[in-house]
Amino acid sequence: MRKGFALACILLVNLILASAHAQVAVGDSIAESLSGMTGDPVRGRAIVASRQSGLCLLCHSGPFPEERFQGNLAPELSMSAKRLNTAQLRARIVDASRFNPDTIMPTYYKAANLRRVGSKWIDQPILSEQEIEDVVAFLGTLNSQP
Ligand code: HEC
Repeated sequence: MRKGFALACILLVNLILASAHAQVAVGDSIAESLSGMTGDPVRGRAIVASRQSGLCLLCHSGPFPEERFQGNLAPELSMSAKRLNTAQLRARIVDASRFNPDTIMPTYYKAANLRRVGSKWIDQPILSEQEIEDVVAFLGTLNSQP
């Protein structure tokens, strides 16, 4: 009896923790910040341009005059930033395969079900919650540029 109660408590705590971490995706958007904090656009720009972490410029191009080699496999990022709001941008960076199951864009946040990843990355999101927020904040600044 006691043991059952303890188990029930553990289950309850797990449920609460899991729901606190769940990304609330509504329609094509994730309105809430993943980390609960606003992003830093300066850090976000560095992540997008980084050839180690974001790797976005492997496929995308954007307003990065200092970057000589940019991708042409995906939409130019300031065009997308003008077309999509913050919540829509966040949902696409978290998991682009929700919008196109055949996309070549990596799933940056959904840790489960990552395929074709090195052992170091198994069950690890590519970017942290705060890094996603930083990238979203940076893309948001492109929205207002001409
Ligand atoms: C391996 C290539 C690749 C990488 C790396 C990549 N993307 Fe993408 N991304 C794409 C493609 C291709 C699309 C077009 C959607 C599709 O595949 O259907 C896309 C779509 C998007 C969209 C939606 C664009 C729109 O106008 O609908 C956003 C926003 C985006 N990517 C941001 C990023 C960011 C930010 C990064 C880096 C953190 C990144 N992508 C990394 C290939 C990539």
